[in-house]
This record gives sequence, C-alpha cells and structure tokens, in this order.
Amino acid sequence: MKFKYAFNLGRVFTLSLAELFAVFENMRLNFRLVDLYREVLIIETEERLDAVKLQKLLGGTIKIMQVIDSLGRKARLTPSLVFKDYFDAKQLKEQFLANYSGKIQIGISYYPLANPSELPIRGDNKRLGFAIKQILTAAGYSVRLVLPQMGGLALPSVVVTNEHLLEKGAEMAFLVGQERVYLAKTLIVQNFEDYGRRDYQRPARDMNVGMLPPKVAQVMINLAQLPMGTTNLKHAVLDPFVGAGTVIQEALIMGYKGIGSDISPKSIENAEKNLEWIKNRYKLPPGRFELMVTDAKHLAENLPKLEIDAVVTEATLGPAYSTVPKQDVIDKNFKELGDIYTGTFKSLRQILPAGKKVVIAIPAYRTAAGYQYFPGVDNLLKLGYDVVTPLPEIVTEKYGFLQVTPRQTIIYDRKEQFVSREIFIFKTI
Ligand SMILES: C[S@@+](CC[C@H](N)C(=O)[O-])C[C@H]1O[C@@H](n2cnc3c(N)ncnc32)[C@H](O)[C@@H]1O
Repeated sequence: MKFKYAFNLGRVFTLSLAELFAVFENMRLNFRLVDLYREVLIIETEERLDAVKLQKLLGGTIKIMQVIDSLGRKARLTPSLVFKDYFDAKQLKEQFLANYSGKIQIGISYYPLANPSELPIRGDNKRLGFAIKQILTAAGYSVRLVLPQMGGLALPSVVVTNEHLLEKGAEMAFLVGQERVYLAKTLIVQNFEDYGRRDYQRPARDMNVGMLPPKVAQVMINLAQLPMGTTNLKHAVLDPFVGAGTVIQEALIMGYKGIGSDISPKSIENAEKNLEWIKNRYKLPPGRFELMVTDAKHLAENLPKLEIDAVVTEATLGPAYSTVPKQDVIDKNFKELGDIYTGTFKSLRQILPAGKKVVIAIPAYRTAAGYQYFPGVDNLLKLGYDVVTPLPEIVTEKYGFLQVTPRQTIIYDRKEQFVSREIFIFKTI
C-alpha cells in the first residue's frame, strides 16, 4: 500500500525542506518526491507516518496533510470545476469528517503547486467550499464553512486550531498544480501556542543578546541528525554560545542531553533559569543539562569528558544594526568574529571525532548589493571540516526557486533585519 503526504512548509521554506529531508533520512524513510512548490512538499511512502509524532519534532513544518486522491486538470479548469461531481455526503463523512455530533466546521484551503498567478484559483476556494457545504446540508448536517480571510488561499494553523476544525469537522486542502489537483486532509498543525510559550514565557530574556526562535533551534538540531527516538543520556548536543539557552532547551524537549557554555556569566545565569523552567514545564528528569562559563576558543580544556553527538549553535553574531552597516564596519566585524570562530572550530575539532556535525548560524549582512557573507570559511575547513549540502543537489537543481546559497548554506532572516543568519552544516573529517 502507498501513502501520500503533504507538508506545508514555513516561511523560510528552503530551511523547512532541508529539515524534512534530514529527518526523513534519519528515520530511514523511503519516499518518492511527488511534487514541490515553495510552501508545499508532497511525498509518497510505503509506510504510514505518525503525523502527530512527526509534527512535534519539526520546527519548520506548519501542517501535515494526507493526500486522499488526485484528479487531472485541463487548462483553465478551476479546482471547483475539476471536483464538480466528485463529492457525496457519505464519502465526505467517511474520508474527512471527525466523529463529532454538533455543528460541523469545515475549512477549505488551497495551496498552489505552481506560480499562483498562472492558476485559476483566486476566489475559487469559496465556490468549492459552498458546494461541499450544500452537499452536507442536503444530507441533513449542520455545517459552518471556514474560509481564509481577505481573499487568502489557505487557512493559517492558528485558525485551524482556534476553530477546532480537526475535532469538529475537517480542513480540506486542495493542492493545485498545472495538470493535477491533489485532495488532502489536514492531520495535524504546528502547536503555535507551545512555541510561543517556549519563546516568550521564559523567565530570562535578554533583548541585547538576540535570541534564536525556538522553531529555528529545533530545525538546526534536526539538521544535525542525532540518533532518534532515544532518551539515552549519552547523546548530547553542545552549544558553545549558549546565550539564553534556546538550542539546549529544544534539545532537552527532543529527549537529548544538553551542554551549554558561554563566555558571559550573565548568559549562563539566564540559561540556567530558562532551562530549569523548561525542565519543570515539560516534566523532564533531572541531570539532563550542564552549563559552564568558558570562552568557546578554550572549550577543549574546560569541557567535561562527555561524548558529544553534535554541536548546534548560534554563534555570536556581533552587533545588531537598524540600518545597513558600512563596508568598513562589516569588514571589522567579520575580522573579529573570524578570530572567535577559528578558535572555536580548532577547539571543537579536539573534542569531536570524525563524522560529527556542527550546525552553526553566523551573520550575513544584507546590503543593497545583496548578502555579504563571512569570508573566513576556508580557514575553518582547513581545521578538519567539510561543508554538508543541506539538500540533495538533484533537488536544488530541479526546483530553481529553492534558496540554497552557492556555498551550500541557507539564510534565515526577516525583511526588517540587516543582520541575517547564515546556517551552515559542517562535518568533522
Ligand atoms: C547570539 S548569542 C546566542 C543566543 C542564543 N542562541 C539564544 O537563543 O539565547 C551569542 C552568545 O555568544 C556569547 N559569546 C560571545 N563570544 C563568545 C566566546 N568567545 N565564547 C563563548 N561565548 C561567547 C555571548 O555572550 C552570547 O551569549
């Protein structure tokens, strides 16, 4: 038996996709890539996936859907026309609706699998939604339709959660390509409330240091491909620039042990407070994390003798800027950071055996002429590292919209930021 699943990827979709590929490889999942367009990946597998478990693990995936069927689409045919005589009440009940006796809530979302301006989809979700509602109403059901607002195409996960669509009805998703429309059912959405708590309710937040969003920390841990599904305390993630502890917090939630160090005693104090809070909130057993004050350049001398499975870190990024920094400022920052990174990589190489991953975010400056990247990577490679491609090259070649840089990194940033994060996956050789 074959199963098809669709993944709704986050805003920085290349990073979300890289995370999925890393996780699939780590869980040894055999899959075929069926289709991919920016925020949607469709795969086919021979095994049923535990969507709830998978969703918890993924920082970069917003929804997981199961593809129920697909129909061919002739040019200019809207999805509502493609599915005109497709549905009946019995099948809707059996294939989509949750077992719920009150008023049914049905959400309709469209996801384009090609440039949306080339697809006849604007406003069509409304038409299709009303047709489905009519079928169910005629069969005696009481139905409320939930549609994206302001002419949008898909419902945000917040709406799916707040409207209880998965408990009281369904979210039906139509993944619309040039020649085919896939019909899917949302199985689970990302728990945005929990990520919010993990970010904003932590007791120690230092706005001067800049904290990594927990989702991104989780993606970076997944890119490191630690052994999965284990609470084996031998598997430890090290963050040598621990700051407020975001990476370690996510590692703990994922069942790993965490070791954090930082040059600043204040950061270690903050991380300690945050990780104690996480430990209590997630009812984690004691003894899962260790923290220490040390300069990352001198880690090798100071680290307890523990087996480290991966290094995952947002290295010190240098100052934040509210306008584009001048070239001499950028050069000066890169020079200073280069000394810290080289020292750190030298030290890490003494701790890590061959074949271990170092997933690290470093700054890239966004200027009018494009991104300015850290120029000292070759010095790091000379110390005994390779760069690992975040996605198979065959995928990046085929899907030209993916944003992997020529040096095999992925940029994570927001429009208003001038210091972006460039995410590298290194491997010790
Ligand atoms: C960008 S912050 C990391 C933030 C962290 N990812 C978080 O979410 O809280 C960088 C941290 O690196 C630390 N740092 C700067 N230079 C360092 C060095 N040479 N060795 C170790 N830590 C250093 C700073 O004290 C700061 O806490």
